[in-house]
Amino acid sequence: MRISLEKAADLLKSGHVVAVPTETVYGLGASLYHPEAIKEIFKIKGRPPNNPLIIHVTGLSDILPLTKALPPKTAELTHAFWPGPLTLVLPAIEELVPFDVRAGLPTVAFRVPNHPLALELLRITGPLVMPSANKSGKPSSTLPEHIEEDFGESFPILDGGVSKKGLESTILIYHEQKWRIIRLGALPPESFASILGVVPQVEGVLEGNTPLCPGQFYRHYAPLAKLVLAKEIPKDGSGVVLGFSDRSYSLPLIPLGPTDSPEIVAQNLYANLRLLDQKGISYAWVDVDFPRDGLWLTILERLKKASLN
Ligand code: TXA
Ligand code: MG
Repeated sequence: MRISLEKAADLLKSGHVVAVPTETVYGLGASLYHPEAIKEIFKIKGRPPNNPLIIHVTGLSDILPLTKALPPKTAELTHAFWPGPLTLVLPAIEELVPFDVRAGLPTVAFRVPNHPLALELLRITGPLVMPSANKSGKPSSTLPEHIEEDFGESFPILDGGVSKKGLESTILIYHEQKWRIIRLGALPPESFASILGVVPQVEGVLEGNTPLCPGQFYRHYAPLAKLVLAKEIPKDGSGVVLGFSDRSYSLPLIPLGPTDSPEIVAQNLYANLRLLDQKGISYAWVDVDFPRDGLWLTILERLKKASLN
């Protein structure tokens, strides 16, 4: 159900969960001050309790009361990229950040979304925790229709149109004296070089160790359809191909976008993964013959995770 900004603010302030647009993907919002609403988010998403949530705020000044001494370059990073698709994991003042939000960690993640409706809403409601608005493990939502698909027609949605970036925020943590990327996202690793002096390292899941990003443990972005990633797509056989609009294939094509625009491919990626299930397609080849840099790295990472079902 599409609701007004005023209604969304009222629901959030009275402890309900509302779907909120951002420039990356839609979020399932709950007020930081309503523990029952935060519990409800974990329940309706089917989210494991040890996967922490990002707190969405309007700017750096909102996070100062909740954090301990900030790591070097924090202010520079926020000035350069907020509002925008950057999440920073910072040392938390544990008494002030609810245990469930941090999933018991001594750190807390923050982001300022770059969407006019989200910012207006946050100014009224104060901090909102927001995971992506999808059932755990499924592709994220970049349109209100995706939220209806996962949570039903009557779920309250603040309609902000299509999420322009189409991929989640890039997450940085300061760990062992260095800023590191713990989730690839809408800002490519190279974006940070001018501020940090280096391109930050991308951390994988550390086998047998506690991962820096708990979410990386879990299945993600996966449609029901079986995806097979390949640089060469077979000439015949069964299934469709998730491929590029400027290439030709023998199998039926679901276009991801043109090869010269990773931005377009990113914006439509989750809608295309959802489309496979909407059409009842059970098997799809994915053309991964594209560059291994910039936004393409995030696109490849999402496709790899989506193929693990
Ligand atoms: O673009 C985005 O970030 C979207 C929109 C709605 O803002 N949100 C989003 O939230 O992607 P979610 O919950 O789907 O992913 C958040 C990720 C999870 O992998 C979680 O483990 C990680 O952030 N995370 C949250 N708090 C953390 C912390 N304290 N330390 C390490 N990782 C953390
Ligand atoms: Mg998510």
